[in-house]
Amino acid sequence: MAMKLLKTLPALALLAACAGDPDSPGIEYMPDMYRSPAVEAYVDYGQDPFYFADSVVKRQRTTQSVRRPPAGTVPFAADAAKAGFNFPYPYPNSPEGYERAGAELKSPIPLTQATVDHGKVIYEKFCQHCHGVKGQGDGNVVTKGNYPVPPAYDGAQLKDLPEGKIFHSLMYGKNVAMGSHAGQLSREERWLVTHYVQYLQAGGRLPGAGADTTATAATK
Ligand code: HEC
Repeated sequence: MAMKLLKTLPALALLAACAGDPDSPGIEYMPDMYRSPAVEAYVDYGQDPFYFADSVVKRQRTTQSVRRPPAGTVPFAADAAKAGFNFPYPYPNSPEGYERAGAELKSPIPLTQATVDHGKVIYEKFCQHCHGVKGQGDGNVVTKGNYPVPPAYDGAQLKDLPEGKIFHSLMYGKNVAMGSHAGQLSREERWLVTHYVQYLQAGGRLPGAGADTTATAATK
């Protein structure tokens, strides 16, 4: 019995060696069946030495598969009317930038019932859970947890906040509790939701054409 075990042990040890690295495919018989040559963006094809001579591999390793745009270029806009949304935002994330945006920055989109309605759809998805259905600062996140209460849009603190400051706060966030929404919403979407905030500032009415000028003048 003991002899038998001694005889089989080396065989077992050999078998165990095959399973050393569980991620290893073992001996690659016909490597092109293991490694697909599909060409995709962001992949450095220089990494696969099975397909290229060393010189090609070296050249490819230093070549980017996707090119970075030259500095100072803006993305192409098929719709010329929307090209402005791709221009750099001129106001820095500072108290001065906030004040300047409040005084100078105007929505490039006319404020109409249609843009307010569009902004409402965005608001319901991105803002309502904190700011509440009517912008009273009573969203579920606030009422159910220990989250800071946002001021009401039509309250003393925010009812005259100019559109440029609303947009600026969406761009960079405001203090710690209100995050930047530049990553989630395009420039155009941020203006549309700004229109809905203006609608709530006016107590759920479409603000008249003169209302914005008064608001801006009051905070200057
Ligand atoms: C996670 C909760 C939360 C979300 C989501 C959120 N906000 Fe806020 N927001 C706050 C809080 C809290 C404040 C008050 C910040 C302060 O003044 O310290 C605030 C402030 C603001 C202000 C006033 C900014 C200023 O300059 O004083 C505006 C306008 C605003 N939010 C609009 C929005 C819009 C529009 C959205 C959706 C795109 C949104 N917020 C999403 C919590 C939130």
